[in-house]
Amino acid sequence: MNSTVTTKAVVQVETPLLAVAVPAGAAVPPSLEGLDQVTGGVIARAVTSGDFKGKKDETSLLYTAGGRAQRLLLVGLGKAEEVTRSTVRRAAAVAAKRARALGAAQFAFAMVTEVRDKVSARDLGQVVAEGAVQGAWAFTELKLALPPDERKPDVEAVEIVADAAEATEVEAGRKIGEAVAAGHRLARSLQQQPSNVCTPSYLAGQAKQLAERHGFALTVLDRAAMKQEGMGALLAVAQGTEEEPCFIVLEYRGAGDAAPIALVGKGVTFDSGGISIKPAQNMEEMKYDMSGAAAVLGTFEVLGRLKPKLNVVGAIPSTENLPSGTAIKPGDVVKSHFGKSIEIINTDAEGRLILCDALSYIRRFKPIAALDAATLTGAVVISLGHQAIGIMGNDEALLAEVREAGERAGERCWPFPLWEEYRDLLKSDIADVKNSGGRAAGTIAGGWFLREFVNGYPWVHLDIAGTAYIEGEGPHQAKGPTAIGVRLFTEFLLKRAG
Ligand code: BES
Ligand code: MN
Ligand code: ZN
Repeated sequence: MNSTVTTKAVVQVETPLLAVAVPAGAAVPPSLEGLDQVTGGVIARAVTSGDFKGKKDETSLLYTAGGRAQRLLLVGLGKAEEVTRSTVRRAAAVAAKRARALGAAQFAFAMVTEVRDKVSARDLGQVVAEGAVQGAWAFTELKLALPPDERKPDVEAVEIVADAAEATEVEAGRKIGEAVAAGHRLARSLQQQPSNVCTPSYLAGQAKQLAERHGFALTVLDRAAMKQEGMGALLAVAQGTEEEPCFIVLEYRGAGDAAPIALVGKGVTFDSGGISIKPAQNMEEMKYDMSGAAAVLGTFEVLGRLKPKLNVVGAIPSTENLPSGTAIKPGDVVKSHFGKSIEIINTDAEGRLILCDALSYIRRFKPIAALDAATLTGAVVISLGHQAIGIMGNDEALLAEVREAGERAGERCWPFPLWEEYRDLLKSDIADVKNSGGRAAGTIAGGWFLREFVNGYPWVHLDIAGTAYIEGEGPHQAKGPTAIGVRLFTEFLLKRAG
């Protein structure tokens, strides 16, 4: 989607759909009186009738009787004092989703001046561009015969209405938002591909395209190269599938020889559970088990477009997890890349097995910080639902920094403790560590397992199992993948780049 900034007054904007973000209130905001007059009083009628109250996610579609906009869409922001960048991003997403439903190929977005001071001009440009793509995204490429009511043009453009005095700042933010939006789109499309399309080699191919497009260095290890490297834990998961596993490493250099930040993403393209097989109900959702990998690839798209001054390494261990005559079995012991032996209690705890080898591999880059994103545990869905990422790590300062990035990104994180006491969950009778501690503290056990393989760098683990996809559609986004992590990683990296 193409975003632009216009400095026209709201009454002058010529568009099929003018979305206006309005806070809660019983009266027409004074800044909208002019627009109300030229459009035939439609805003006043919606507001004074009580039909539109300005509540969060509320919308009123109004057909104008005059003026340059064919339709108006009032979008509620909720209480004026609670408006943040996340509220504005969400309002833009709600507007974009309505634009798609209406078949509008473009729309304009304005925020009433009464609450304009709640976000900076730069943030306004960024979050409107981000939200527009979040709301307008749809995945139709595999429907060969689209039903007529789904035959809607893509929302191709959003025009951000801004005051002339702040146009430069809004434009600067818009550029960031548009790059983030491209990363978001890439991540979501990868997530949504079925596992017979999106295989480990497909992810490697996507990494190759990114590398060619933006000039990143790329290394892809196949099964044989993983053997050479001694990645026994990743290979243990991969031994159950005929699909070639890939260990993908992308390197972005924006700051010469400076030590990099590492991003690690779980790339299980389908998780059946292996021999510890999952129930059939909803198993198709396990195509989303590569969402961490999608977040890393999406973030590299952002890096390629924005070229911030820092170095970033992206590492993606990728395989399927299937049961077969060659699959690992509960009770098997394997040797990890790090050197520790692992007793495999449950073959469905495969994410930690592939990630532990990645966390060990990245030590060679001497990262100044490492962030991993993984759909790691069902337990995090029980703890936090679909509202927050579970966050754990070995460094309080980095944890705080990542949580802040999550707040700015509208991808919120909530901490779990990695206290020493929990380490006992993973004590094995016959190996250095076991891969499952049973049902108690499942998310923490997953985090602790990874920590056993982190050495020499500050590290944060993001358990995105509850936030990577949504089962029903929201007012601000379609059902399915969310591209979670792309915005958080980007916020984190851009802040680091200064
Ligand atoms: N990919 C799953 C976690 C998951 C669950 C992601 C629900 C998205 C939605 C992961 O590999 C898994 O199976 N974890 C097990 C671990 C257990 C066996 C220790 C789980 O959470 O049940
Ligand atoms: Mn699993
Ligand atoms: Zn999994």
